[in-house]
Amino acid sequence: MKAELKKITQNGIKVFEIENDNGMRAELLSYGAIISKLFVKDRNGNLVDVVAGYENEDDYASDICYFGALVGRVCNRTAGAKFSLDGVTYELAKNDGNNHLHGGVEGFNKKEYSAEIVGPASIKFSRISPNKEEGYPGTMTVSVTYTLTNDNALEIAYEATSDKRTPCALTNHSYFNLDGDFESVLDHEVFIDADKMSDIDEELIPTGKLIDVKGTPYDFRKPKRVGKDIGADDRLLHIANGYDFNFVLNDGGIDDVRASAYGKKSGILLQVFTTKPCIQFYTGNFLSGEKGKKVYKKQSALCLETQNFPNAVNMPSLQDVVLKAGELYSSKTKYVFSTK
Ligand code: GLA
Repeated sequence: MKAELKKITQNGIKVFEIENDNGMRAELLSYGAIISKLFVKDRNGNLVDVVAGYENEDDYASDICYFGALVGRVCNRTAGAKFSLDGVTYELAKNDGNNHLHGGVEGFNKKEYSAEIVGPASIKFSRISPNKEEGYPGTMTVSVTYTLTNDNALEIAYEATSDKRTPCALTNHSYFNLDGDFESVLDHEVFIDADKMSDIDEELIPTGKLIDVKGTPYDFRKPKRVGKDIGADDRLLHIANGYDFNFVLNDGGIDDVRASAYGKKSGILLQVFTTKPCIQFYTGNFLSGEKGKKVYKKQSALCLETQNFPNAVNMPSLQDVVLKAGELYSSKTKYVFSTK
């Protein structure tokens, strides 16, 4: 096991490295609490970096893809970039047309965190998000702890408290290609334990309606090639240019496999465990040749973002994402790797 400060970049970003006893290792940044590298073993025992990102850590400052980053205060889209709480309407930063996306213009992905080594292969990043940051009420203390375990899990534990009621829904935005070549994820096999998915409008905002995935291109209840139905002539696939949808997880919890993705070339299987009720399955449809460790073309990577119902703050019937003053927000996601 290892957890150490590896280097400090020209712009002052601290790069940490954690490693388990099997040689699986991750690099984590004090900027954006970003997972910049994640090396896991393929079926031949060779280490493969399965996440998208930049070779030069200082390049994350101009990233628009949220590669590997902590996303908050509220991930995904908030319609009209506003919500009402306790009789007050709060205007949020608009950074996706008329809407608010992934915490705003300078969300949690663009901030510097203080870092602490908290275990043999564990780093905790923390920060205070001031009152009115990107429009959100309350001063919020947020932390995310990344831990590698010897059963080849990368555990992500989120915590937050606020001095005022405020919405809070954190996620991590890692883009995976389990073959590590970042050519295409269309041959990856994906499983999602969800009978239902959120319908969306032309602006990718959930309408509030849930769609039964049975018999649709959105049925991943058995592992399915991503490319099998991605080109189907279906309204939602046309709007999103691929998969970019909120899947509502069936009953279960942190001990159940909620989703998985498999790279046939490497034999690497990623299994997702989470306390969250939903997963955004996104096939990197907006990627357009960004240059980083690799060149990231459209659909060269995929995201399985564990989350709450998107836009829940405007649809209280779906799920409450409001953190009460003085209460602890706590959620956990595990990305577990094996080969087959
Ligand atoms: C999320 C969204 C996508 C896109 C990406 C960032 O995954 O669901 O629509 O905005 O983030 O490019």
